[in-house]
Amino acid sequence: MSDRKKVILPTLFKKVADGQPITWLTCYDYPTAYLQEQAGIDMILVGDSLGMTMLGYDSTLPVTMEDMVRHAQAVRRGAPNAFLVGDMPYMTYQPSVETAIRNAGRFMAECGCDAIKLEGGVAMADRIKGIVDAGIPAIGHLGLTPQSVSALGGFRVQGKSAALAKKIVDDAKALENAGAFAILLELVPDRLCKLITERAENCIIMSLGSGPDAHGQLLIYHDMFGLYPKFTPKMAKVFGNAGEVILNGLKQYASEVTSKTFPQPENWFGMKDEEFDDLLKLL
Ligand code: KIV
Repeated sequence: MSDRKKVILPTLFKKVADGQPITWLTCYDYPTAYLQEQAGIDMILVGDSLGMTMLGYDSTLPVTMEDMVRHAQAVRRGAPNAFLVGDMPYMTYQPSVETAIRNAGRFMAECGCDAIKLEGGVAMADRIKGIVDAGIPAIGHLGLTPQSVSALGGFRVQGKSAALAKKIVDDAKALENAGAFAILLELVPDRLCKLITERAENCIIMSLGSGPDAHGQLLIYHDMFGLYPKFTPKMAKVFGNAGEVILNGLKQYASEVTSKTFPQPENWFGMKDEEFDDLLKLL
């Protein structure tokens, strides 16, 4: 087990003050959480991307609170000391401030999360305020927001024109003023991310495919290790091809069982001759 100290909000703000980038990854299951804890990853996001990476949907929209709670609980068991963020799924905060507070509270009470994340800018600022006023740390998510991918016209860079970039700057300020302690910028141009980071007063800016000048980086775990078969986005760096390693292992298993070279004596258990003889007599 990892013996590192629990990562808490002041730990994250101290990293920002010291100019040390914050590490953040998605995670959805116990064994991966265990590895991320051992690697000392600061923050873990139980993202609703699990709808695609774990459940095989084409989008994040079908994901429910029940899905999220089950996965977040498993991640917390594997990573007791990471700063754990629960991602609010589609339509669990959009309908009203009250719905948002109630579902954010489930992440805290049922999963041991340290914070929640939700998508949207000015229009969602009152949800952020309500959640923060209820004592729950909240993170905003701007730029490419997958729950609105249809309205955004697909998975593409956001804020490339001056007018759209200005809207993202205004959204970021609205979220910060509503009390968000952090904002994730997904797929916005690097200079826009830098500008928002420089203007943030008491808010941690995190980048996903938005360049190096934020206070930290987020990546989708499955993209990092070749574990999502449908595509690997440009912004993701592949740090190791676990998908290939696993596939080769599976093929070898199938071949060894077929050729009767697996199992070998070290893979099974025997019983004493006298016990076996007694068994035969009992039959
Ligand atoms: O669900 C998720 O993993 C996310 C990332 C795309 C940021 O929200």
